Amino acid sequence: MRFLLFTAFLTLALLPGGCGDGTDRRTLADPSVPTLSGAPPVVIAHRGASGLYPEHTLAAYEAAIDMGADFIEPDLVMTRDGVLVARHERYLSTSTDVADREEFAGRKTVKPVGDGEREDWFVEDFTLSELKSLRARQTRPGRPSEHDGIHTIPTLTEILGLVAITNQTGQTVGVYPELKSPSYFKVQGLAPKTALVEALEAAELDALGVPVFIQSFEPWVLRELDAETDWPLVQLLPVTTGEVLTPKAIAGYADGIGPWKQVLMGFEGGPEAYIALAHANELVVHPYTFRDDAVGPGFDTIQAELRAYYNLGVDGVFTDFPDTALAVRDGELNDP
Ligand code: G3P
Ligand code: CA
Repeated sequence: MRFLLFTAFLTLALLPGGCGDGTDRRTLADPSVPTLSGAPPVVIAHRGASGLYPEHTLAAYEAAIDMGADFIEPDLVMTRDGVLVARHERYLSTSTDVADREEFAGRKTVKPVGDGEREDWFVEDFTLSELKSLRARQTRPGRPSEHDGIHTIPTLTEILGLVAITNQTGQTVGVYPELKSPSYFKVQGLAPKTALVEALEAAELDALGVPVFIQSFEPWVLRELDAETDWPLVQLLPVTTGEVLTPKAIAGYADGIGPWKQVLMGFEGGPEAYIALAHANELVVHPYTFRDDAVGPGFDTIQAELRAYYNLGVDGVFTDFPDTALAVRDGELNDP
């Protein structure tokens, strides 16, 4: 059932006009491209076009859509009053101006983060109204900062609204939400998984034919979603729970694998064997994260890196620079 939904998206995307910009990139498909479906790999705008705009802002998502990305990717965390918003971390100092806001000085505290602790301001200690008073900023050195101080933190509902409007205008763009730290939020008495399902249902994405993948590093939340919904699911690797999951085990509850690039390259039998194994289990493979300004080890250019992964048969890539990934993908297909 899940895989049928995904296949339906690929079929839909192969129809003329699928890119909404007068071109149809997918009709350029080379049938020899070794993805699971045979269609070209999808380009997933990681935190939006975050190479240009502050990550996880509507401006970053809109830019990615304008570039022609196949999906936009919001990481989701939850406010004190139970609203899902887009941030990569639960802490706020690196992606917003919270540290400059005197009214929130007393909110700074020490909390668990990953395997350690961090002194910072945390999303779960703010109401949505309070969060909306903050302004986003660029998180990575060397990237444009002229958009800092302008954009607010978007809610999931706002992001889904952007996706719905885009699809209503004839451009197909999917949404690829990630549940961040669902175990932590559950302990806090918050319910991000339920909120995500409710928001997706309320947005009526099925009726619009919007492609969706839900992703998480935590297998338990994907297993629950598998039992409760039909949305396609992607297991991110490495998992945060310490479980060792084979593609066959992942196929028991998910539809794809999102491996860190180094995990994929470091697979004992090599990346080709891992992708073949995933495909044999009807799982797509979407590695992360491709960055023009942080090319992976062993590659001289981002173009060479992307081309190598495409040639391995990955079914999609997460990238901060969707325009680059699209150009390499489509140039490759135009010039076999
Ligand atoms: O979701 C794919 C990738 O984004 C996972 O890494 O830490 O950037 O969310 P992260
Ligand atoms: Ca993510």
